[in-house]
Amino acid sequence: MKQQRTFPEGFLWGGATAANQVEGGWREGGKGISVSDCAKARFDTEVTNYKTHNQVTSKDIEEALATDDEVYYPKRHGSDFYHHYKEDIRLFSEMGFKVYRMSIAWSRIFPNADDAEPNEEGLKFYDQVFDELHKYGIEPLVTMSHYEPPINLVLSYKGWYSREAIGFFTRFAETICTRYKDKVKYWLTFNEVDSMIRHPYTTGALVEDRFPGQNFEEVIFQAMHHQFVASALATKICHEIIPDSMVGCMLTKLTYYPYTCKPEDVLEAQQTMRSTYCYSDTQVFGEYPAYLLSRFKNNGIHIKMEEGDEAVMKAHPVDFVSFSYYHSSCAARDTSHLNVTAGNTIHAIKNPYLKSSDWGWQIDPTGLRISMVDLYDRYRKPLFIVENGLGAEDILKEDGSIDDSYRIAYLREHLKAVADAIAEDGVVCLGYTSWGCIDLVSESTKQMSKRYGFIYVDCDDYGKGTYQRFKKKSFDWYKKVIETNGSSL
Ligand code: BG6
Repeated sequence: MKQQRTFPEGFLWGGATAANQVEGGWREGGKGISVSDCAKARFDTEVTNYKTHNQVTSKDIEEALATDDEVYYPKRHGSDFYHHYKEDIRLFSEMGFKVYRMSIAWSRIFPNADDAEPNEEGLKFYDQVFDELHKYGIEPLVTMSHYEPPINLVLSYKGWYSREAIGFFTRFAETICTRYKDKVKYWLTFNEVDSMIRHPYTTGALVEDRFPGQNFEEVIFQAMHHQFVASALATKICHEIIPDSMVGCMLTKLTYYPYTCKPEDVLEAQQTMRSTYCYSDTQVFGEYPAYLLSRFKNNGIHIKMEEGDEAVMKAHPVDFVSFSYYHSSCAARDTSHLNVTAGNTIHAIKNPYLKSSDWGWQIDPTGLRISMVDLYDRYRKPLFIVENGLGAEDILKEDGSIDDSYRIAYLREHLKAVADAIAEDGVVCLGYTSWGCIDLVSESTKQMSKRYGFIYVDCDDYGKGTYQRFKKKSFDWYKKVIETNGSSL
């Protein structure tokens, strides 16, 4: 017999996107150029090799700034949400969204990060987006920074390594909190703050060749320290301006299992998990965990902290913990004989019990339940799943239909796991926003053909197409899930 699962009343169902991947309009409305606008697609290389796709040099940036090309810089066109937002939000409301996670492109508000005044046209654009959402009773959940630092932070400063970035960012935070105080209650400061380790350019505006002779790992941790301080200050600002606001951190939930029950493999898995938790530990507990400080010490990493940094971090921790979850991986002391597959900007060890997506990410719904239990037991703060989904190649048929039953199967199993974590394991979870609810440009591979949406956007990897929107089979399926608060699963 089918087990009925229900979700708590008021559970925030919805979808998620980020400005740099969905908006387009990269030169419109006074927008400045962001790091993502200068991220070149490498369609000719192996799509699972995230390292190649995320390496950016000063020469790459020079080349990017010298061209208006949108074919090899697909984030410049995204899904053209900038011109389609009314239609897209109407479709979200048709599915019954209660919440829509989106980001504000920093370079639309402060085109160069250090501008004296914000760009009014950019502020107006988001006013319109929020008004449109509220027209349908959809609550915005806004990420302040999702791979969108203005490129000027790289050109005139040293990215987030420069202490000035804190001041620029907090001014941006203050500007948007003030402007949208009556429109936005749920905020995230930095998307996947930990991702700076794996892609320092998009997260931290860091280009390795600009730090000759320096230990680049130290550069990354210094930049991350600045983001931790900026995040705490943004949380403070947000709480002061919007007293009933809720501010969350956001981590990439990379879940590792020991490859065998050999104690060395178990220890390896534990150590790897700790190295992924250290960032949220810092943002939730408001201080660096002892094991991260030992890592700094053992690797000769010296972080420059100014007086007051630690006090600010301690005084303004986050209210809730949000995370992305797509797949799980394994860990072992000796990996030489093990098969490797792709993961979310990692190379994962293959788990013989799991199947993988077309892009090699290992599909593991139970891993989501395990992740939720771990996070809730560790932090005792409400969770919010702000990214989850299946990147797959969809086929638009002549009659305009798209049969994405594989996506329904993926989401159904993951949502069942969420329901079990809530009902059986006592986890408190505020909501679920499926990633790329409308097709958008992939972060790691810059492909449009790696689709996550309930809504198909007619545009190929090279930006060619009508940009017309089509409902996939999963559209009606998700609508029903929301309508029944999960009991149709
Ligand atoms: C998350 C990022 O880590 O993974 C998103 O926050 C990204 O920006 C998502 O799009 C999926 O990854 P990809 O590489 O398939 O786009």
